[in-house]
Amino acid sequence: MTEKSLLDFVTKIRREIHQYPELGNNEFKTAKVIERVLKSLGIPHKRVGKTGVLGEIKRGPGPCVALRADMDALPLTEISKSSYASKIPGVMHACGHDAHVAMLLGAAMILKDDKNISGTVKFIFQPNEEGAGGALELIKKGIMNHPRVEATFGLHVNPRFPSGSVAIKSGPLMAAVDKFEIEIMGQGGHAAYPHEGKDAVAIASEAVQSLQMIVSRKVDPVDPAVLTVGTFNAGTRYNILAGRATLTGTVRTLSEKTHALIPKLIRQTLDGITKAHGAKYVLNYEVLGSVLSNDKTMALHARKSAEKILPMNLIHEPEQASMGGEDFAEYLKFSPGCFIYVGTGSQRLKTTAPWHHPGFNLDESALPVGSKLLAQIVRDF
Ligand code: NI
Repeated sequence: MTEKSLLDFVTKIRREIHQYPELGNNEFKTAKVIERVLKSLGIPHKRVGKTGVLGEIKRGPGPCVALRADMDALPLTEISKSSYASKIPGVMHACGHDAHVAMLLGAAMILKDDKNISGTVKFIFQPNEEGAGGALELIKKGIMNHPRVEATFGLHVNPRFPSGSVAIKSGPLMAAVDKFEIEIMGQGGHAAYPHEGKDAVAIASEAVQSLQMIVSRKVDPVDPAVLTVGTFNAGTRYNILAGRATLTGTVRTLSEKTHALIPKLIRQTLDGITKAHGAKYVLNYEVLGSVLSNDKTMALHARKSAEKILPMNLIHEPEQASMGGEDFAEYLKFSPGCFIYVGTGSQRLKTTAPWHHPGFNLDESALPVGSKLLAQIVRDF
């Protein structure tokens, strides 16, 4: 297979999926495209759940390596005027999952003809990454067993790195994602007689301020954490004392220690404030995703494979983790592995808009790099 035929193959798939983006757990068309391509490559595959697809190359004894691509799009309207722009108003591949599917199918195409591999390669096409829960759903359905996966690798396009490069980091790469909902129950009344009620607006405001003290004053400053209150709703009218207030927000952490600590501190803060004002509260705290931490040995393995296909100046090592989340972390609880960035940023092609932006796009000439890297990682196993 030539460079050009690989580029044509992945570009065609990426554009087809890009035009018909589908939200989490609704990736029916996308799954059909994947199945069509796997069939044309002669790779056995099956549907997992509604829209997940698992392809498998099994060749004799040897290790089992899993490669994962996510499939879902985002509720955004694409601003691009390109010929392959989204044809679905309000839905767009603004995180590059279309490219992840294309790169993984590219790797499948490279590997299907490789007579030197011995063992099993699982190609995991995962729905619903953005909604969180897609990875866990597939794992619960047993995709990591029979045979048991020994290492898992995945790619994410990244506009912050120059097109054609890759970025590999050992250790924490992306944050644990938590969500909280707080309801403060005060006591309503007339706005002119605040002393006769318990003003939920004032109490919740104090809570918002004090919650900021958790990250700034109670968490080790060299252990990154974020606590953001995203919504604050209270009251019905300018002259009515609010009896209730609700706050929702997110917590992001990079270590298990701080991940466990913050909900306790939130509770402690709310206990104190509501007690001081004679109010009550309910806290719903949900862990949506774990810290994505790349295994040291697997990151090194990926790096060595990258060195076989790319010059050194195109292999980066991100210095910092990101506070964004990624449910690839779920696979890493099951097997060691590594999540790798494929640079797709090009000033010339104006593909430097960040993830989840309506102007997001990528330099497609970078996609074969991802396919080749995944294939090389499998070969090196
Ligand atoms: Ni993404």
